[in-house]
Amino acid sequence: MLVPKTILISGASSGLGQALALAYANKNTVLFLAGRDRLRLSATASACEKLGAKVYTDCFDITDAKLAENWVLTCHDKQAFDLVIANAGISGGNYGQMENTKQSYQIISTNVLGVMYTVIPAISVMQHSSGGQIAIIGSLAGLKGFPGAPAYCASKASIKVWADSLRPTLKKDNIFLSLVCPGFIKTSMTDQNKFPMPLMMSAERAAKIIKNGLEKKKPWIIFPKTIYVIIQMLNMLPIAISDHLLARLPKKQGLE
Ligand SMILES: NC(=O)c1ccc[n+]([C@@H]2O[C@H](COP(=O)([O-])OP(=O)(O)OC[C@H]3O[C@@H](n4cnc5c(N)ncnc54)[C@H](OP(=O)(O)O)[C@@H]3O)[C@@H](O)[C@H]2O)c1
Repeated sequence: MLVPKTILISGASSGLGQALALAYANKNTVLFLAGRDRLRLSATASACEKLGAKVYTDCFDITDAKLAENWVLTCHDKQAFDLVIANAGISGGNYGQMENTKQSYQIISTNVLGVMYTVIPAISVMQHSSGGQIAIIGSLAGLKGFPGAPAYCASKASIKVWADSLRPTLKKDNIFLSLVCPGFIKTSMTDQNKFPMPLMMSAERAAKIIKNGLEKKKPWIIFPKTIYVIIQMLNMLPIAISDHLLARLPKKQGLE
């Protein structure tokens, strides 16, 4: 069982990232937390400090490759981390239409490039030390294209394939990579959705499942299993039938 002591988490200023920070916070842990909103990130840090953790925070945009790399390397210089969680992500929505070009650009930049900008420097430092563990936060939406959020689904599918490509060769460097694919979690990301979200869970519960899966070094941490099975069944249907069913699903609204 892997019990990490020094953990770096992107997107820790709210939602799942905040819940993960709190799940790992105790008197034996050092947390490196990042986000863009200074106030919300400080609130996460204070809550983690109350639980006994030593916390460092940095505010920057994860889509800036130089800033992201600098964050990872500077944190590692302060104290070598044993777990990196690439969690920062956004979704879009365009009043029931597909995401527009601006949203699509932001989604791909954050959910794909932002993850790569975090994970690539982390791999590099881990390869030159004693290894470590990396968690990439994907989504069940990356296992099947869903109408209303094509750019979001594409971003999560992309990062899934990237994670699956990396994992086999990292093992020789004692680096364990897990792809996390959650279903609906109650956060500000889902608060904008006006449709029913089956089996939605709290961020705290999701963080617990992820932490448990990471301790067992699971290559894939996918939940809830019921929705995963439904997606697998959809993937096995003839494409004309699955298109027909998916076209009837409610679409993400979004703010823009
Ligand atoms: N909620 C769900 O149902 C669900 C399901 C599956 C997967 N996920 C994934 O879980 C992850 C966390 O999402 P969440 O639901 O917790 O949403 P959230 O509450 O909106 O949190 C997103 C986090 O990402 C950070 N972030 C976004 N863009 C950033 C950028 N350009 N630079 C730096 N930080 C940035 C945000 O920081 P600031 O607010 O400070 O900008 C925030 O801390 C995402 O990767 C999401 O795709 C969520």
